Amino acid sequence: MNLLAAGKDSDAACTSCHPAIAGALEGHTHHAAGSQGSRCTNCHMPYTVYGLLKGIRNHRIDSPAITDAAAAGDARPNACNLCHVDKSLSWTAQQLARWYRQPVPAALATDDTPAAITWLVSGDAVLRALAAWHLGWQAGPQPAAVGPAVPYLVTALDDPYAAVRYVAGHAVQNILPGAAFDYLAPPDARRRAAAEILRGWLAQHPMTESQTQAIDARIQTLVGQRDNTPVRAME
Ligand code: HEC
Ligand code: HEC
Ligand code: HEC
Repeated sequence: MNLLAAGKDSDAACTSCHPAIAGALEGHTHHAAGSQGSRCTNCHMPYTVYGLLKGIRNHRIDSPAITDAAAAGDARPNACNLCHVDKSLSWTAQQLARWYRQPVPAALATDDTPAAITWLVSGDAVLRALAAWHLGWQAGPQPAAVGPAVPYLVTALDDPYAAVRYVAGHAVQNILPGAAFDYLAPPDARRRAAAEILRGWLAQHPMTESQTQAIDARIQTLVGQRDNTPVRAME
């Protein structure tokens, strides 16, 4: 829960030294002044460090960018796609080109898979946990952007790492209050609970057969591409 009013949260930590940007805030951020998308730290110090079962702000200031390395598959998350969890890398690259005249990497895939979904299912264990945490970040993504992630979060409920299941379970419970899930239950019980959650979601958000098939196919592909490098910090 964030008890600070929007706009007062932490820009003051930056604006004393960067008054010109503060004076033309919307011109710099391209978001409404009161939006979470205008808070300095949300773009320059995103929660890209993982610890104690949650995202922690990176204390090395950097700026959102879709680099050539990202286009080549280096899965370092960027602040834009951690909040716009329903958007692809290519969408972000287009906005960064339009707003900040950043170059769009030539090799960037144009498929419309949201970057946060790729990170959630295909990333290494730390990235999967960070993506799951952002899907439950209440001051961040718009609810309408989070909803479509539910089938993928349900996949994350069966993640090999307990920590990922834990964070994904919390994200699910933010979206579907009351959803019952025990991240330490035996695999069979976990899968039954996950299937139950998905059934409940689909009952409220009906999909056509071809939509569910497309989601299933995407999940299969992404699970197949998962980075299974052991991550000791997660064990
Ligand atoms: C004590 C003064 C001070 C504070 C506080 C401060 N900055 Fe800076 N910042 C600087 C200086 C000096 C530079 C380097 C000169 C420049 O580019 O203007 C800089 C550079 C930057 C850059 C460019 C870095 C780069 O590699 O190009 C960004 C982005 C930035 N600051 C963001 C922030 C954010 C976000 C905050 C708040 C969390 C913040 N700054 C707080 C003084 C400060
Ligand atoms: C919506 C995301 C976003 C927000 C919010 C944001 N910035 Fe930036 N900022 C950027 C991007 C992207 C760049 C890099 C621009 C480029 O590629 O040259 C940048 C660059 C900068 C730079 C270095 C270049 C320059 O223009 O001087 C500073 C300093 C900076 N931001 C400070 C801030 C401060 C202070 C705040 C809060 C008042 C803030 N930013 C909020 C996205 C953001
Ligand atoms: C902390 C969350 C957050 C971050 C970080 C963020 N945004 Fe946003 N963004 C929002 C919200 C909330 C809106 C809704 C309109 C508003 O509040 O200004 C929005 C609206 C937008 C819109 C217009 C509406 C739409 O969805 O098409 C674009 C484009 C956009 N953001 C691009 C970006 C880009 C590019 C970055 C990174 C440089 C970024 N945002 C970073 C929260 C964020």
